[in-house]
Amino acid sequence: MSIQSLNDLISSSSALSACDAWSQLSTYAVKYSQVPLYDLVGEPDRYQQFSQKSCGLHLDVSRQRLGREVIESLVQLAEERHLSDWVEHLFKGSPVNNTENRPALHMALRSGCEESLIVDGQDLIPLVETERKRMLSFAADVRDGRYSGHTGKRITDVVNIGIGGSDLGLEMVVTALAEYRKEGLETHFISNIDGTELTDCLSKVNPATTLFIICSKSFVTEETKLNSEAARSWFLQHCSEQAIAQHFVAVSTNDVAMDAFGVSPEMRFNLWDWVGGRYSLWSSVGLAIALAIGPENYKNLLSGAAAMDEHFKKAPFGENLPVLLGLLGIWNQNFLGLSSHAILPYTRRLSAFPAYLQQLEMESNGKSVTRNGKSISYPTCPIIWGEPGSNAQHSFFQLLHQGTVGVSLDFIAPKAVSSATEQHLKGLINMLAQADAFAEGYTSDQVIADLQSAGNSESAVEAIFPHKIHRGNQPSTIVLLDRLTPENLGALIALYEHKVFVQGVIWGVNSFDQWGVERGKVLARKYEIARSESGGSEGLPPIWREIG
Ligand code: F6P
Repeated sequence: MSIQSLNDLISSSSALSACDAWSQLSTYAVKYSQVPLYDLVGEPDRYQQFSQKSCGLHLDVSRQRLGREVIESLVQLAEERHLSDWVEHLFKGSPVNNTENRPALHMALRSGCEESLIVDGQDLIPLVETERKRMLSFAADVRDGRYSGHTGKRITDVVNIGIGGSDLGLEMVVTALAEYRKEGLETHFISNIDGTELTDCLSKVNPATTLFIICSKSFVTEETKLNSEAARSWFLQHCSEQAIAQHFVAVSTNDVAMDAFGVSPEMRFNLWDWVGGRYSLWSSVGLAIALAIGPENYKNLLSGAAAMDEHFKKAPFGENLPVLLGLLGIWNQNFLGLSSHAILPYTRRLSAFPAYLQQLEMESNGKSVTRNGKSISYPTCPIIWGEPGSNAQHSFFQLLHQGTVGVSLDFIAPKAVSSATEQHLKGLINMLAQADAFAEGYTSDQVIADLQSAGNSESAVEAIFPHKIHRGNQPSTIVLLDRLTPENLGALIALYEHKVFVQGVIWGVNSFDQWGVERGKVLARKYEIARSESGGSEGLPPIWREIG
């Protein structure tokens, strides 16, 4: 069957509320807002009906506030929004990033070399393969000591200087795959503008055994420029100018800027415009990951993501993990009014996953105009945030159980771990207990009955019971990984990447641009000019007088 042209799809992107499924879902929202989640969770076969497995991941959505009919309508909504056509355009390299007239082809970075992908007359796969081989062979040389510092000593520290997509995914993966890291090779991530991170890091490393990666798709990002220049000055305090070539490598699309910084051509790793920053850990941007966990594990990360790509392309919507996750987000945000979505990994290894998802989801879908420039009248991306459990239980869970704000939650955990198994199982028990407590709450009747059976007087029960009620009805999804391996982590990341795309299609927004990050940068440049020209506070906000 022929697919709709991209132009037709873009021009219909603002017609969401005209979908039949949209009005049907609005009716269901009224119904399900009145059904306590407690009752739904107690239905027989609920778990069997509302869980799915693929690519080493297991999705349990039985604690979502919905019934089968809602899933069916959400699937219908995806069909009415032509999701299959969009997926086909995404994978074949149509310019789905329409405001920048680019494809979004991060999937090409993890597909097998036997495939080909012709875009504008060029096969991208050999390009990708060549650059990946260069990057992985460099990583292997550093790890095995064939590549050393200028004094001939082995590299012991890798310092990745980058921000946003040139930082968050890398640190997240390296933290998550700690068990796969090479001993004797430390990885550091420097991103923030203020310089304290870099100063702290430089106080610990030896210039003769440190490799700096300047990682910036654009190579014009202010934070990365400042930190790279500071790192270079520090290096020059200890080593000669000639040694720089051996200790500074770069990852970027911008050859002119790499020339200006003095990065030699053999020490550059490239990527392409069609790789979005927050989707770039699969490209040469992943050099720090390959150095930390090694080429084989890095390839396994890619193959796990590739397996999720295949699943996303082929599985029917009702069994398709990214489609389900995306549609549940639409249900919670647009129909149940939950504008806050917490990410709660129950393993410290995934502690950086919430921060990674903040950029992935909010930079992608934090939009209020459709692809064809029309104002949006419905909520789009919720606020994404989170912390690892069980720390979170001892911090903000109070508000989630008894505060006034409705949230939806994703619990994420590996089923099994290779050490401290008993402690891990206790963590999982806690996770399930919390998911149930969020769903079921603790009603006034239950509280009163429990207080009475504990022997409290009538007046004591009367005084205390309101303080013990838990609101319940906070829906959650549990994502279990078989184990936290490179393959399964790759699949998990790709799951969320495609979830974001699904939601972008439903909301009619372009998930691949990020114009909203520019305005603040322009103002900062203006203030910087005012500061250097006036030497005082003229042209700056009044509070600058307290600072400058
Ligand atoms: O300012 C936002 C942003 O452009 C992100 O989209 C990107 O991941 C980050 O900055 C870093 O960009 P670069 O890799 O070009 O330095």
